[in-house]
Amino acid sequence: MNNAFVKAREKAEQATTDRQERNRIWWETLPMTYRSWEDSDRGVRDGQGFSQLERDYLDGNPWLKENFDFNAFKGKTTLEIGCGAGAASCLFARGGADHTAVDLTEQAVKITTQNAQSQHLSMRVARMDAEKLEFPDNAFDHVFAWGVLHHSQDTQQCFRQVARVLKPGGTGLIMVYYKYSIRYWVRGVQGLIGHGLLFKGYNMQSVQGFFTDGYYQRHFSKGELRRMLGSCGLDVTRFSVSHMKSKYIRPLPTFMDPWLKRHWGWLVIAEFKKRG
Ligand SMILES: C[S@@+](CC[C@H](N)C(=O)[O-])C[C@H]1O[C@@H](n2cnc3c(N)ncnc32)[C@H](O)[C@@H]1O
Repeated sequence: MNNAFVKAREKAEQATTDRQERNRIWWETLPMTYRSWEDSDRGVRDGQGFSQLERDYLDGNPWLKENFDFNAFKGKTTLEIGCGAGAASCLFARGGADHTAVDLTEQAVKITTQNAQSQHLSMRVARMDAEKLEFPDNAFDHVFAWGVLHHSQDTQQCFRQVARVLKPGGTGLIMVYYKYSIRYWVRGVQGLIGHGLLFKGYNMQSVQGFFTDGYYQRHFSKGELRRMLGSCGLDVTRFSVSHMKSKYIRPLPTFMDPWLKRHWGWLVIAEFKKRG
């Protein structure tokens, strides 16, 4: 169990009954800076800190390093939803994209702005809810949301908004948590049976909050994602399953690691194209 997660949840629940406000308070309390969740100081202060953050972001998310070209959007309008500390947004801007970064929290807006300034990169940064994007229809060539939309209180509403702001024929990429990952089931059983949370009314989904970041942390199958995105006019062009850099299941031989991660990793990535 992660104490920082439990405390952030309690703080959000004591502050308000509003579901999306709880989500926001959770992330204001524990902004995503790639520092340990338990550290009392999780800030990023200077240029060196931001360089380290970019290394941690790319090392920690090997799929992006191996499969995604942030330099392929020169002159295009790109949007990152849920920018966190702004690592991906800075990569888009450095690659020459006309880039906008949004996040639900003030913390993320502040850190992303500092990150861009420390690298002399130009981009727009705004506090905005993925469920109520304040952009006109058909505004972007590409929309990117890495590890974000499963944390919002209504993921389907986020997908509708992504579809609305994307130009016809525009592309997008989302990463969310994967329901058929080993982590989801192992952590779920640990929590429900090992910690007895089954008897306190928790289920496989709700128990994940004791181990996993965010006030909400939904897990999806590929079929669910295909249907949800498809119903908004977004056709999936490729699914990938991946995981973070660290070894997935410590006692198993190292040679099995890439295969396990490719099939039952914790992250499912959907790349898609807007119809029309
Ligand atoms: C796990 S962090 C990921 C940050 C960044 N994408 C990364 O990979 O480092 C999730 C981020 O999503 C943001 N977030 C959660 N719900 C959101 C929403 N409805 N609209 C915009 N941002 C949201 C949080 O504030 C947080 O910064």
